[in-house]
Amino acid sequence: MTRVFVTRALPEGPLEALAAEAGLKLEVSPHDRAATRDELRSGLAEAEVLVSQLLDPIDAELIASAPKLRLICNYAVGINNVDLAAAAARGIGVCNTPDVLTEASADLTWALILSVTRRVLEGDRMTRAGEFAGWAPQLLLGTELYGKTLGIVGLGRIGRAVARRARGFGLQVCYTGRSEKPAQESEGARYVGLEELLRSSDLVCLHCPLTPETRHLLDAERLGWLKPSAYLINMARGPVVDEAALVAALREGRLAGAGLDVYEREPQLEPGLAELDSVVLLPHLGSATRETRLAMAQIVADNLRDHLAGRPPRTRVE
Ligand code: GLV
Ligand code: GLV
Repeated sequence: MTRVFVTRALPEGPLEALAAEAGLKLEVSPHDRAATRDELRSGLAEAEVLVSQLLDPIDAELIASAPKLRLICNYAVGINNVDLAAAAARGIGVCNTPDVLTEASADLTWALILSVTRRVLEGDRMTRAGEFAGWAPQLLLGTELYGKTLGIVGLGRIGRAVARRARGFGLQVCYTGRSEKPAQESEGARYVGLEELLRSSDLVCLHCPLTPETRHLLDAERLGWLKPSAYLINMARGPVVDEAALVAALREGRLAGAGLDVYEREPQLEPGLAELDSVVLLPHLGSATRETRLAMAQIVADNLRDHLAGRPPRTRVE
């Protein structure tokens, strides 16, 4: 009987249905928190399939402690928490959950853009505190989006969905990445180098994967290329930005604000970040809709079904 270790309960339905149909033994971590290293190690001792979530560090040592492991289904589109080389060396497949979270993630990018540029949370805090004393010509003035430039770092599926929404807001869009995309895939966005993008954009949105090349892509020097009126939105992974340098830049007014869904040492925040009024901070909610999280669980189950049938799992990345 194939043993499947699930490090944290997923939305119910897809995996349970597959387990009943295919006679799987599902071992689901009983805790509503991330598994500890010891829990991961003991779950992996017998598992043939691992269903991990994005804060589980599936590194070479844990992979070495899993003699029967054949497949890792990461419940996320990002797979930076898995040591892909260690998995590949053992012939262990690694799958992610692409596509189904694209629209939900792009929507949340826009929630951050609109919140930070229109000071939505400052307004909410003021109103709740009973400090709204009536309409005023200069109350909480924000920044107009129409006609501004949006720069997207990483025009993958999510970046493209963000660019598509930008047309409705009347923004100019440019992007950068490892290579220029064919015109039909770029949603009308113009390809530029990173320096030009950072120097010319009013809004910079990060949608690249975390890799050795993108770690601290926005370091102190590159943050310095942003306009003082620019906003930074990070929906990718925290370590793409040097968070200490970002706090310093925000404090000194070297950029106008930031909307963050991810953090460098998630779930910890860089000291000083939470004290800034110019930031909107979300607890990694990019894909957090009921529809998307259920669809992600379905992809995990579909990959597992492929694996059991001896087919290549449909969203295998490595
Ligand atoms: C979320 O951040 C994901 O990678 O799915
Ligand atoms: C993720 O789905 C991406 O390619 O942006």
